[in-house]
Amino acid sequence: MSRWIIAIDGPAAAGKGTLARRLAAYLRLPYLDTGLLYRAVGRRVLDRDESPTDAAAAECAALALQPEDMERTDLRDPAADAAASAVADVRGVRAALLDFQRRFGAERGAVLDGRDIGTVIFPNADLKLFVTASPEARAHRRWLELRGRGLGADLLDVERDIRARDARDIARTASPLVPAADAIPIDTTTLDADAAFAVALRAARSRFGLE
Ligand code: CDP
Repeated sequence: MSRWIIAIDGPAAAGKGTLARRLAAYLRLPYLDTGLLYRAVGRRVLDRDESPTDAAAAECAALALQPEDMERTDLRDPAADAAASAVADVRGVRAALLDFQRRFGAERGAVLDGRDIGTVIFPNADLKLFVTASPEARAHRRWLELRGRGLGADLLDVERDIRARDARDIARTASPLVPAADAIPIDTTTLDADAAFAVALRAARSRFGLE
């Protein structure tokens, strides 16, 4: 099997994770959800009663990150969303996580999803997808997901949080969220998971010459 690197970037709750997981399984490649790294760093900072916007505290947490931090069950609640978004703004945090991401991909190839995979982590990735959807569609999906996990939330609050995270991802100077020039855009506003996967698979087949 080839050691392809597939970069899937895009804003919050655009469906990157579902798409990346399915593509990785189909192509038999390892999968890394890089958002979990930032979430785990954010959680470490919160555990110490420090502020995720404190750059020194965030960098220290990133340098101390352990594999078991990624197994925590509290990485996907709204407090972790906000903490991840804040620590992701810290240049030292991004630098501390860079090597791990590159090493993960270098071993056997990988599908990685995040915000800066195709621009910074693997600028020479074999295939780059940039997955978007309208903020309303993304908020609705995240709201359904939270409800499914028994975490009641107000739809408008979810949309406000998503817009705030997007704004921070786009505005930061360290690795801002921006499509790589050679990324294939996929707008999932009106696509369900199967339809989005079909589009991504078509792109992968054409790029890698698969049947
Ligand atoms: O699942 P969702 O799209 O809501 O977020 P995520 O991908 O788990 O990422 C959580 C936060 O980490 C985001 O709000 C980003 O600010 C940050 N992040 C990043 O800056 N760079 C990445 N490669 C991945 C996530």
